[in-house]
Amino acid sequence: MKVGLLTGGGDCPGLNAVIRSVVRRIANAGGECVGVLEGWRGLVRGNTRPLSVAETDALIGLGGTILGSSRTNPYKNPETDVPLLRRHFAALELDALVVIGGDDTLGVAVRLINDFELPIVGIPKTIDNDLKLVDFSFGFDTAVNVVVESVERLRTTAESHRRVIVVETMGRSTGWIACFAGMAVGADYILVPEVPIDVPHLLGVLKYHRTPFKNHAIVMVAEGARYTDPELLALEPRPFSHPRLGGIGASIAEIIERQTRIETRTVVLGHLQRGGAPTAHDRILATRFGLAAGELVLQRRFGTVVTLKDARISETSLNTTALANCPLDLGFYQDAATFFYEPYEPKTKE
Ligand code: F6P
Repeated sequence: MKVGLLTGGGDCPGLNAVIRSVVRRIANAGGECVGVLEGWRGLVRGNTRPLSVAETDALIGLGGTILGSSRTNPYKNPETDVPLLRRHFAALELDALVVIGGDDTLGVAVRLINDFELPIVGIPKTIDNDLKLVDFSFGFDTAVNVVVESVERLRTTAESHRRVIVVETMGRSTGWIACFAGMAVGADYILVPEVPIDVPHLLGVLKYHRTPFKNHAIVMVAEGARYTDPELLALEPRPFSHPRLGGIGASIAEIIERQTRIETRTVVLGHLQRGGAPTAHDRILATRFGLAAGELVLQRRFGTVVTLKDARISETSLNTTALANCPLDLGFYQDAATFFYEPYEPKTKE
């Protein structure tokens, strides 16, 4: 059996661990794997590389993807790119294709399954944790840990200078990363897209952070967080800020400094959250996803995608409904938010 593998969309710690795992499972069953380079672009252009057990052996802890990635969508040029993709797929004589991607990359897989019955098995990936297919996606834990480590560094300088530091995280239109990292560092306030920004509430909370007992604050803001106040909305025209540009974090920092007169700084963590080695949790999850996808391929159960529900790995049919977006579970946010108002009362002498 000859199996192709491709990784598409934004990269994500754990992708190489998945590749290693699929390659080993298929090799154990006597099959061979070939890597398609740079997502769907590789199939449109016919760019591939061999993937042996030896070549992938040391990949488990390596960040990024050795196959490269892109956001190429062949359906943007259906007249030219889709026929090219099909021609290269046939020329490679693939029995199956394992597609590792988020909703965009897997969305293309759905169309190829529906239009041409391509033998595809999907594996969900995203640092944003915004897919209904999984309770937790690999890459998410690594991203949260990067944010935690960074905020712990930022807290000491915030404390020295009695400043507020606004930390903008990734997450697209969801607040999973901001909320989980914010809770893990005991952030003083967390802003997420699922909860409209309430500026007076934020400023009210921050007033507690100018006492002899607490003189700094960390405000976490997810890149997709939005204002509801139309006046403020006008200040932030982008649908959601982009890590290359920064946006909502800088805007929030400006409001805080202007209204409270507390010196405020912004840090946009951006692609740091996607780089480097995956955590042990993500390596294990990615390895198990790879094994599950390998099994599905060997059983020829095509048109499926790996899932993680209630800590159990399983599979479901790969279709647009399965790829629905998953906003932050507000239960997590409410837990984190119970700490926002805690004032630091002076301890009375006995
Ligand atoms: O979906 C992953 C993600 O990192 C988002 O959190 C972020 O908005 C986006 O990708 C950044 O994309 P790019 O790498 O194209 O700048």
